[in-house]
Amino acid sequence: MYTNWDDLKRDCLSCQRCELCKTRLNVVVGVGNPRSKVLFIGEGPGENEDKQGEPFVGRGGKLLDKMLAAVHLDRNKNIYIANIVKCRPPQNRDPFPEEQQQCNLWLQAQIELIKPKIIVCLGRIAAMKMFKPDIKITREHGQFFEKDGILYMATLHPAALLRNPNNKPAAFEDFLKLQEKIMQLCPETYEGE
Ligand code: URA
Repeated sequence: MYTNWDDLKRDCLSCQRCELCKTRLNVVVGVGNPRSKVLFIGEGPGENEDKQGEPFVGRGGKLLDKMLAAVHLDRNKNIYIANIVKCRPPQNRDPFPEEQQQCNLWLQAQIELIKPKIIVCLGRIAAMKMFKPDIKITREHGQFFEKDGILYMATLHPAALLRNPNNKPAAFEDFLKLQEKIMQLCPETYEGE
């Protein structure tokens, strides 16, 4: 149980709980405002994230930032972004369940410190791990599910949107629903814009 970010970051940066520590360049802990009430969770770092030590900094990240900006969200101001696994899986394969399990300690500690009201899962892997193991993302993205006092929503992964741009409008609808929910549950997210 962590009570401050400095301790959490220090320990996470030196983690060797799974094999991914052997091939990583950087541990990607997360980015954003730890006092925000809205947490985004991706799957795991890719090549660019591994090099730079920050989540979603490649082409998918640029698209994510654009969609966030359209609903007045900004990774440097009013949200936090983390991943299920903090180290890059080789060749960008899906993280193994064992790796997700070992890394869960860090994500749970982040959730305990942030105490988010809303968690947005970017893609199927994050949604399965966080709230609905049997999620059908094409059908259930944009829907809110309550679990342990937190509202969860899955949206399509930015990398999937780059592969399939036809789905961008549907994903944008999810962000509009999110904006509405934020205004209801944590309007302070938008204060001081
Ligand atoms: N994809 C993810 O799921 N997370 C990142 O940080 C980058 C790409």
